[in-house]
Amino acid sequence: MNSSKSDLERLVLSVQKSGKYRHVYRELIARIGQAELEKRSSLKAAIKATKNKLHQVGGVYLGEKAQYTHWLATLRQAKSEGENTFREACRQIMEYHTSTRERVPFLQSFYSSILAELPPVQSVADIACGFHPLAIPWMSLARGATYFAYDIFEDLTEFLNAFFSLTSIEGQARTCDVLYSPPTPSVDLAYLLKAIPCLEQLERTAGKTLLSQIAARHLVVSFPIHSLGGRRDKGMLSYYEKHFKSLVANTPWTIKRRFLFTNELVFLLQRS
Ligand SMILES: C[S@@+](CC[C@H](N)C(=O)[O-])C[C@H]1O[C@@H](n2cnc3c(N)ncnc32)[C@H](O)[C@@H]1O
Repeated sequence: MNSSKSDLERLVLSVQKSGKYRHVYRELIARIGQAELEKRSSLKAAIKATKNKLHQVGGVYLGEKAQYTHWLATLRQAKSEGENTFREACRQIMEYHTSTRERVPFLQSFYSSILAELPPVQSVADIACGFHPLAIPWMSLARGATYFAYDIFEDLTEFLNAFFSLTSIEGQARTCDVLYSPPTPSVDLAYLLKAIPCLEQLERTAGKTLLSQIAARHLVVSFPIHSLGGRRDKGMLSYYEKHFKSLVANTPWTIKRRFLFTNELVFLLQRS
């Protein structure tokens, strides 16, 4: 099919009309849409395929309509009641992102294990962050540390910017497609948590591309290793382990440590 500019424009408008994708970074809709228009026989089929792809890479993680205004009010109230109440509110809100949620049962041991050997962390980049910045209270970052967070949902990044103002760190969330407008701040630590399998659905070479672009001294990369039922899946574990080692080969990264949590395989890397 011939993909004229107006078809692409119509596709983007149609996708944005659907409540679920209204806040998705426009350039990402257009990029997926362009590829689908080239593959499909009709505009209607291309719109449907674009929505499916956006569901796979983003929509699937956000359950019911996100309640950012309400969550922000909860966080503000909790903050005024003290640090423990604030943490509890963060924990509860993380439950609304199906990927970030999976880490909630072991937040304390997660950061105390993976960050144990690092010098005080002054700056962080969180790539394809989801709700992960809400775990900042567990990260023991240096006071006044900077935290850059990136995701495709405009309303999510707005919410995160308001959340940052309630913490002691200098945060900045940006809406972008990390594959096409890659964030490249130079930081002490970058997180690429459960993002490679997701981004490889958009671009087969996403993992390799990101490893070559991330400008950090240390990098934490993780993979989901559970089946739909929630049990650890040995096949996924060995597949991602092998896959990741092949991605790291011939890059400036060295794997320093490997951690196995109930449902997540984590690597700590250092730039050599
Ligand atoms: C599996 S979730 C991981 C979330 C978070 N890193 C965590 O582990 O808690 C993948 C996240 O990537 C985001 N995402 C998908 N495609 C992206 C892209 N091209 N650029 C930036 N973020 C993207 C999704 O919106 C989603 O929040």
